[in-house]
Amino acid sequence: MVAPDRVWGRRRFLATSSAVAAGVWLTGCSTGKRPDAAPGSTGSLMLPTDPAIAAREAQRQVAGRGSPTVDLVAGPVTVDLGGIVVVTSGFGDTVPGPLIRVRARDELTVRFTNRLPDPTAIHWHGLAIRNDMDGVPGLTQDPIEAGGEFTYRFVVPDPGTFWFHPHMGMDLDRGMYAPIIVDDPDEPGDYDAEDILILDDWLDGIDGGTPETALADLRAAGGMDHGGMMGDGGGRGMMGMAAFGDVDYPLHLINGRAPSDPVTFTAPPGGRLRLRMINAGSDTVYRVAIGGHAMTVTHLDGFAIRPVEGDTVLLSMGERVDVLVTVTEGVWPIVASAEGKPRAGLAWLRSTGSTIAAPEPVSPLPEHSGRMLDVGDAVATEVVAYPQGAPDRQIDVWLGQDMSAYRWTINGATFGDHDPLRIESGERVRLVFRNDTMMVHPMHLHGHTFALATTGGARKDTLLVPVMGSASVDVIADNPGQWMLHCHNTYHLEASTLR
Ligand code: C2O
Ligand code: CU
Repeated sequence: MVAPDRVWGRRRFLATSSAVAAGVWLTGCSTGKRPDAAPGSTGSLMLPTDPAIAAREAQRQVAGRGSPTVDLVAGPVTVDLGGIVVVTSGFGDTVPGPLIRVRARDELTVRFTNRLPDPTAIHWHGLAIRNDMDGVPGLTQDPIEAGGEFTYRFVVPDPGTFWFHPHMGMDLDRGMYAPIIVDDPDEPGDYDAEDILILDDWLDGIDGGTPETALADLRAAGGMDHGGMMGDGGGRGMMGMAAFGDVDYPLHLINGRAPSDPVTFTAPPGGRLRLRMINAGSDTVYRVAIGGHAMTVTHLDGFAIRPVEGDTVLLSMGERVDVLVTVTEGVWPIVASAEGKPRAGLAWLRSTGSTIAAPEPVSPLPEHSGRMLDVGDAVATEVVAYPQGAPDRQIDVWLGQDMSAYRWTINGATFGDHDPLRIESGERVRLVFRNDTMMVHPMHLHGHTFALATTGGARKDTLLVPVMGSASVDVIADNPGQWMLHCHNTYHLEASTLR
């Protein structure tokens, strides 16, 4: 066990060196691909106004489903992080922002107002919706200017645990995230209580830090080897941390709360709690465990798998994991240990009616080194599994690093210099991610849910590609438009679009 002040305490923030991810974009061409087009050419790429996008949306409409409307505001928000009061950017007046809850096949309308001093937009992470509502400024829509409004309206295709965030600058490493839960009207859940647990790595406003200064520090450190400068936790050459992230965050939050002021989840003793976990962090992979409890993993990125029991789960940035927990009477720590980094996030699980005092929390818990699901072993349930079949072709996606700068590449290029991956509508392609770097990259695809190219074929939209390793997924291109394929590390993503 590590000393408590090292686990929970607030430390001066210091960024470590290096990194950037490139975005490639994946393009659906409904009217024929042009494999001979010049690299980077946009001549044949589908615009968000293409009639194929509205036609695809019409196929998603189901008679008799609801049409909920939600008002959503982005603006400055003041948060109290265990006594440290900071002003950040958020949705509504809380961090995380307000929950949006709908049913699958509802047509959701979100009337959005931007009260931030800068442009933004909203991306609906994991929802395979119409392309012109995907919320990527410069690709699927114009940025929504300060003081501006935008109405998002789309059919929500699949049930599950999702979330939304901007796709703009370093916004995501502020408080700009919130859950969107899509219920399955045909399947009432088999549990007694339900909660949402959102993880986030926090530096904004702490000791004068901002995501921009952290990024600037990383860029200044340039192509230095990973693990060059890491706070007081390790000093030079701590490669272990560098593999999982560049930034040594002073705080890890659960539902917007610092470890010194944790949130408490309650559920009846002996009852089943469904916990929907979301990693909204920018540069941190979390390993979550509950003291004295096992967890049954039921969903990955919102999609059902055959349930697997374990002691701990791993969530990289953008990923979601739903678990069922049979609650033991008493009060138990929920510890989100930051993989490869010091410190952790904390919450409590308390059985209804229990009044016993919470013990001193420790991290890691014994459960952190227990059984953990390998997503490659997960088996998609019949309802969500891809049809059997071989891919039509294979596309290699090389994840690289420019050693001379804080810059990450896909197939050797940063975003803007890249050659889009062109995929015919209806094609089934196998994306083979090959990570040539000493850093993990959670690769996320917009507009689709891929199936792991494993025996079980779990459906996911974000997949952690290990250091110097590879991972393969199949994608059936059934949603026309231009779609981002990118690393969900906010620093990698942002640095890859700067010159
Ligand atoms: Cu969570 Cu491109 O997004
Ligand atoms: Cu990355």
